[in-house]
Amino acid sequence: GVAFMDGQYLPMSEAKISVLDWGFLHSDATYDTVHVWNGRFFRLDLHLDRFFGGVERLRMKLPYDREKIESILTNCVALSGHKSAYVEMICTRGSSPTFSRDPRQAENRFMAFAVPFGSVANKEQLERGLHVAISETVRIPPKSIDPSIKNYHWLDLVKGLFDAYDRGAETALIVDTHGHIAEGPGFNVFVVKDGFLGTPAFGVLPGITRRTVFDLCAEIGLSATAADISRAKIKEADEVFITSTAGGIMPVTRIDDTAIANGLVGSVTRRLMDLYWQKHD
Ligand code: PDD
Repeated sequence: GVAFMDGQYLPMSEAKISVLDWGFLHSDATYDTVHVWNGRFFRLDLHLDRFFGGVERLRMKLPYDREKIESILTNCVALSGHKSAYVEMICTRGSSPTFSRDPRQAENRFMAFAVPFGSVANKEQLERGLHVAISETVRIPPKSIDPSIKNYHWLDLVKGLFDAYDRGAETALIVDTHGHIAEGPGFNVFVVKDGFLGTPAFGVLPGITRRTVFDLCAEIGLSATAADISRAKIKEADEVFITSTAGGIMPVTRIDDTAIANGLVGSVTRRLMDLYWQKHD
């Protein structure tokens, strides 16, 4: 992979930040990840909109404008030589030259990198569906961190993952402050019931893949809405799938000890997966 830092393109092994950077010390940063498929970015504008929105709400300033950032990302991909890449752009609070504890004194930093594409689910899991556990861990409440700011606060998600591994599952879903289903480590979730699609409305990252599912549903005449999903409801679903830039639309066929759709990948999920990848051609 190739990284961009301080005006230079570097091999990943040389891309390093200071331990004093507030992004590292306080998770005071925002980022976005976009994927490149067959040499082309997928919905880059939406990722840039979300990134610039997060930067603004965190009251940080990027040292480059949107056009320049687009060209930095393009250069990282070209220099990496990868046709299918996972591209991350990051803005951190940086650090203060005087070690001030006032975030306004810090010099904000931008960095980016392109590495080979990696998915939440591997090929076998995409064929048979994932086994997911529901963890009691509560996702950061939206009044604490605005979920539309893509952030590195993953202590809750990582705890969820370990809960899942301890129970023999492959990944986790964690809950919101009301105990409803929220999201998982790097993905949103959808249920299909009687032909209608649903996904949690509040306290989750407004995923670009989630949005793409809404767009696909509109195109093929399926109804999708954002609303609360209880832990009991998700297990009664006809189909469940998760969505992420890291893997697209990925089927779930088991939640805790409950088989979803008799443990088979459902037809709506399959259709959306096909349409999703057709959009990449
Ligand atoms: N993660 N929820 C969380 C907490 C995420 O981190 C992500 C994405 C999503 C899905 O959003 P999108 O469809 O825009 O990728 C939901 C990225 C891929 C990551 O882990 O780097």
